[in-house]
Amino acid sequence: MLPFDVYPLWDVEPAYGEGCYLYDKNGVCYLDFYGGHAVISVGHTHPRYVQRIAEQLKRLAFYSNAVQNSLQKQLAERLGAASGYPHFSLFLCNSGAEANENAIKLASFDTKKKKVLAFGKAFHGRTSGAVAVTDNPKIIAPFNATPNVEFVPLNDVEAVEKNLQTGDFCAVIVEGIQGVGGILMPTDTFLQQLRALCDRYDVRLILDEIQSGYGRSGKFFAHQWSGIEPDIITTAKGMGNGFPIGGALISPRFKAVHSMLGTTFGGNHLACAAALAVLEIFEDEHILNNVADMGALLMSELQQLPGVKELRGRGLMIGMEMEKPMGELRSKLLFEHKIFTGAAGTHVIRLLPPLCVGKQQVSELMEALHEVTKRL
Ligand SMILES: Cc1ncc(COP(=O)(O)O)c(C=O)c1O
Repeated sequence: MLPFDVYPLWDVEPAYGEGCYLYDKNGVCYLDFYGGHAVISVGHTHPRYVQRIAEQLKRLAFYSNAVQNSLQKQLAERLGAASGYPHFSLFLCNSGAEANENAIKLASFDTKKKKVLAFGKAFHGRTSGAVAVTDNPKIIAPFNATPNVEFVPLNDVEAVEKNLQTGDFCAVIVEGIQGVGGILMPTDTFLQQLRALCDRYDVRLILDEIQSGYGRSGKFFAHQWSGIEPDIITTAKGMGNGFPIGGALISPRFKAVHSMLGTTFGGNHLACAAALAVLEIFEDEHILNNVADMGALLMSELQQLPGVKELRGRGLMIGMEMEKPMGELRSKLLFEHKIFTGAAGTHVIRLLPPLCVGKQQVSELMEALHEVTKRL
């Protein structure tokens, strides 16, 4: 048997990693400015992270959600405090799509309605409900296409109201910053207007912070720049620094009913240990401050780069829209300078480094970018 061939692959195989660097089996070093789809938060193989998971593995890797698991309670408490949502509750699952799936289900149970409003260029995952609210017809199978989802342009408040006033919607789902779409920002005013409209029409506001959350924007969640409080916040990626874990942070307005949500693996002992290690490192190493400092440095350096049409984003979630298609630039960065970056469409390079990135790595990237753009 072979792997089902659904991923276009670069011809590189990382064998081990440390901090912001990856190494192949011959010891060739790669600088990671992509974090494996924005997943690496505290750095590859952080010693504390490795130790916490290893210790837990020796004690107990898994038991089901039918027994007490105090690691889940510790994680909920620590995440509530770190994120500024101590009054919310936490439902744990295994991925971003699953977190969104559960958020939509919860909103629908709560309001007893079935339509969801989503936005142009949105990406919310590939499972049934998550893909239905994703604005990419190519990944929506006929089974997943549904009349229960409407899309409107991001930041178009009138279009939102026109839909919500029909009274058919259970939820609006929006990314804190659109990632896959090309680092596109909902404005702070738009998020405030969304909050107000959801209140007016009794619709639940879901903030998908799977890519933009966990410190990536310089605040714990990107929507916190706007000062609003959503009804549900979904998270994954940086939460486990590579260990699969996702979660929905749920406002006190929702009443939990036994069996309304559930999962076998969600919140297992190993995943909780990984997520707790991440939060401990966030605190000890002042990760949010580092994101703010390095994000500002990176943005100001990128402004000096020729050939850039627009720079977007916040903190260490940066989209660099190039005047020309960026494919050659990106592959020269990878194969000649050994630097991983991300892409969105044909013109946008996404920079999503580990949140512990430092000045040394920023200058390595900038040197490479200047060298390559000079030749193109
Ligand atoms: C904003 C957003 N939501 C949801 C997802 C889906 O997460 P997962 O791949 O863990 O299911 C992603 C993944 O890229 C994402 O960027």
